[in-house]
Amino acid sequence: GFKDQVYRARRKEFADIAFNYRHGQPIPRVTYTEEERKTWGTIFNKLTNLFPTHACREFNRVFPLLQENCGYTADSIPQLEDISQFLQKTTGFRLRPVAGLLSSRDFLAGLAFRVFHSTQYIRHPSMPLYTPEPDVCHELIGHVPLFSDPAFAQFSQEIGLASLGAPDEWIEKLATCYWFTVEFGLCRQEGELKAYGAGLLSSFGELQYCLSDKPKVQEFDPIKTGEQKYPITEYQPIYFATESFESAKSKMQALCELIPRPFSVRYNPYTLSVEVLDTKDKLLQFAHQMQGDFSILKDALNRIL
Ligand SMILES: [Fe+2]
Repeated sequence: GFKDQVYRARRKEFADIAFNYRHGQPIPRVTYTEEERKTWGTIFNKLTNLFPTHACREFNRVFPLLQENCGYTADSIPQLEDISQFLQKTTGFRLRPVAGLLSSRDFLAGLAFRVFHSTQYIRHPSMPLYTPEPDVCHELIGHVPLFSDPAFAQFSQEIGLASLGAPDEWIEKLATCYWFTVEFGLCRQEGELKAYGAGLLSSFGELQYCLSDKPKVQEFDPIKTGEQKYPITEYQPIYFATESFESAKSKMQALCELIPRPFSVRYNPYTLSVEVLDTKDKLLQFAHQMQGDFSILKDALNRIL
């Protein structure tokens, strides 16, 4: 689309929405053209045919909810604002419009706050099944469904929290782990490999390829995975598989403990902010809150056991 002046002007409209957007505002709604809706429909139909056999269980559980609540159909492109409101109700995740790729540090920092930066434009219509950069099909079909799964949302946020204040070489490792999980992750369910990465779930070709016997599949191990080199314009020669999002999260936590930084951080869901745990008072406050949560847990267990 680089040489297509009409497409470039359209992309500028989307870029302006992102540049002018301020936190807390509703995300402006876009009236997509018939051609844009046709591109979306082609991709939507092809991918939804593969999901029952290729996507992980969690993805298939939440996808119908997006069809019911957010206007996911072959005929219309869902609006970021509707999705953002839906995600806030399910896992507290929010969308923020973005004009294009961000630096790894900025993108990961967003995840720490349960904010996912999402593009709003759609790929050029000449090649509906390929895009060299993230577009609305990749974000809404590939990423959004799993952000409404609590365990996956938690896993994504862990990577984000680990990135805050981390040295550059560690940002690189975390971004690589993000690439091989949130973008291109596989998992094992009932003895079979399934896809959960957004780069796979939004690519008709790679979704089939990744479960074939062509690529190599290794166990997800953040220390090793974080060092793995990868191509960005062709199918991945190697994927990493995990047993569950919980197990991926525990492994990521073990990696995060190795990051050299002088403090720990935690997300405060009441204030939607990140607290730096660097004083005795803050730790005591945190401990008191946990004590309260443990009493609730103990009481609830006593009542149902
Ligand atoms: Fe992505």
